[in-house]
Amino acid sequence: MLEIRDLQISYGPIRAVKGISLTVRKGEIVSIIGSNGAGKTSTLMSIAGAVKPFSGRIIFNGEDITGQPAHKIMKKGLTLVPEGRRIFPYLTVMENLEMGAFIKKLSPSIIDEIFQLFPVLKERRKQVAGTLSGGEQQMLAIARALVSEPRLIMFDEPSLGLSPLMVTRIFSIIKKINSSGVTVLLVEQNARAALSLCHRAYVIEGGVIRLEGKGSELLNNKDLRRAYLGE
Ligand SMILES: Nc1ncnc2c1ncn2[C@@H]1O[C@H](COP(=O)(O)OP(=O)(O)OP(=O)(O)O)[C@@H](O)[C@H]1O
Ligand SMILES: [Mg+2]
Repeated sequence: MLEIRDLQISYGPIRAVKGISLTVRKGEIVSIIGSNGAGKTSTLMSIAGAVKPFSGRIIFNGEDITGQPAHKIMKKGLTLVPEGRRIFPYLTVMENLEMGAFIKKLSPSIIDEIFQLFPVLKERRKQVAGTLSGGEQQMLAIARALVSEPRLIMFDEPSLGLSPLMVTRIFSIIKKINSSGVTVLLVEQNARAALSLCHRAYVIEGGVIRLEGKGSELLNNKDLRRAYLGE
C-alpha cells in the first residue's frame, strides 16, 4: 500500500534521512522505532507532503506521490497525526473536528463513528480544546485525522507525555482503528508497547534502517532489548 524507496531528506547541509526503504502492506500495523534525532519525524513529514525529500520515491497505492502537496496526499487517504498533537487550543472540540474536514463536508455518520470511539469527546464537544487533558487532546488529534477517512494513518509519538493508563488506552484505540480496516504506520519511542502492537517494525538509527522484522521477533532481539528496553 505504501512503499518508500531510498528516501533521503536534507535540511540545508544536514542529511537527516540517509536512504530509507520500507513497505507497509494493506491492513498492517508497521512501527518505526529509534532514538531522538534518528529521522522518524522527518520520514513521516515527507510521506505526508510537509517536507520535500532530497531524493527517493514515495509510492502510495501504486501512485508516485513524492513531493506532492500535503492537502493532495490527504485527499488520497493518507493522513498524519503529528508529534505534539497540534490541535487548535482556542477552538472547541467540535470546531477542531470541523477543521479536520476542510477537504470535505463533515458527515453526521463519521461524527457518530468518531464519538463511538471517543465518548469523552462527545461529552466535551463544546469545550475549548486547550482545556482538555493531555490524553484527551491526543484523542482529539486522532479524531481530527479520522475525519478525513484515511486508508492509511500515520502516528508520530502518540504516547508522548501521557500517563501509563492513557498510553494503554491510546494503543487500544490504534488497534481498534486498524481492526476497522485502516492501515497504520506508527512512530514510537515506547518500543515495548509499539513492538507488542505491530505486525512488523523498522529500527532507525542516524537516518538509516538498522533492523527490521516482526514485532515479536524484535522484542526478543538482544541488541534491541539492550538499546531500547534498557536491559
Ligand atoms: N527543520 C529542521 N532543520 C534542521 N535540522 C532539522 C530540522 N528538523 C529536523 N532536523 C534534524 O534532523 C535530524 C532528524 O530529526 P527528526 O525530527 O526527524 O528525528 P526524530 O527521530 O523524529 O527524533 P525525536 O525522537 O527527537 O522526535 C535531527 O538531527 C534533527 O536535529
Ligand atoms: Mg520526532
